[in-house]
Amino acid sequence: MTGATRPTDFLRCPICQSVMVENLDNAAWRCSKCERVFPIVDGTPRFAAAAYLKSFGRQWNRYDVARWDEDEAVFRVKTGIDPEALAGLDVLDAGCGGGRYSLLAARSGANVVGVDLSDAVEKARSLCSDYPNALIVQADLLSLPLAECAFDVVFSIGVLHHCPDPRGAFASVARRVKPGGTLAVWLYRQNTPPQELLNKALRRVTTRLPARVLEPLCVGLGVLGGVPMLNKGLNKLFNFSNHPDWTLRVCDNFDWYAPRYQSHHTIAELTDWFHAEGFEAIEPLPPARGGRFYQFAYEHNMIIGSGVNVRGVRKK
Ligand SMILES: C[S@@+](CC[C@H](N)C(=O)[O-])C[C@H]1O[C@@H](n2cnc3c(N)ncnc32)[C@H](O)[C@@H]1O
Repeated sequence: MTGATRPTDFLRCPICQSVMVENLDNAAWRCSKCERVFPIVDGTPRFAAAAYLKSFGRQWNRYDVARWDEDEAVFRVKTGIDPEALAGLDVLDAGCGGGRYSLLAARSGANVVGVDLSDAVEKARSLCSDYPNALIVQADLLSLPLAECAFDVVFSIGVLHHCPDPRGAFASVARRVKPGGTLAVWLYRQNTPPQELLNKALRRVTTRLPARVLEPLCVGLGVLGGVPMLNKGLNKLFNFSNHPDWTLRVCDNFDWYAPRYQSHHTIAELTDWFHAEGFEAIEPLPPARGGRFYQFAYEHNMIIGSGVNVRGVRKK
């Protein structure tokens, strides 16, 4: 395994990008130039928090969703990267949530920094607690307390579409990639107009519900997702998870209906972002599943909750 991830190698002031120094009592990081101070709480450096992401703090701390084999398979599909190839590399997990992919990178021997703006960092820190080569940081992707051009590999799985400014967050994340380094991003796919309309109408209601009301509804959708015959057709009309694992099904439903922001994107749009931020070898990645029916529905943007998934290399 690689040594411990050294925060000073990566942390920079989110306001002026200057080097950070740790206070002697270990209770805070201080900017060496503008003197701003950011606390360390329970071992996690805290640069920001956001009320609009409260549902994520709840969901990732409540549901244990890390599944070793599945997480590895999903990571391969959504980044196009073999986890073993991460050994010894500096890796950023942009929007780490409960930390399942930060854990995977750490287990593979990477120096990994996992960033999230919600209280999900508590879960991520505890999940990665056996790995000194994983540093979890609470911060906003739009104002990252991390050095630019610092990471060999940056991935962001299912995150930017939950930001108020996904394009701005993409640019901020892209700047952290070293020249010659790799960036992989997975975002929700834009579905057909009727699907989009219905989803917006439903989420207009669900995002206003308190968690104690929404959660039982997500349990109900979890039941629906377990009914053969229904769970592969009805979810083309409105989203509910048909994952075989009950916990993941309910968590997926909450993940869809609770967050305040949820934008949907096209491959062309995401590819343009990569070009605009100075990437080359830009490659849309295929979905995990095959089969003629799935492929047809995927290509016609009918699979709700499926992704647009692109990888690229930052020009030297
Ligand atoms: C659907 S979860 C995905 C988590 C993780 N990538 C995974 O796949 O398990 C989206 C995460 O993005 C985080 N997030 C959303 N906007 C963010 C922002 N501006 N800065 C940092 N994290 C953000 C949320 O707090 C949430 O944990």
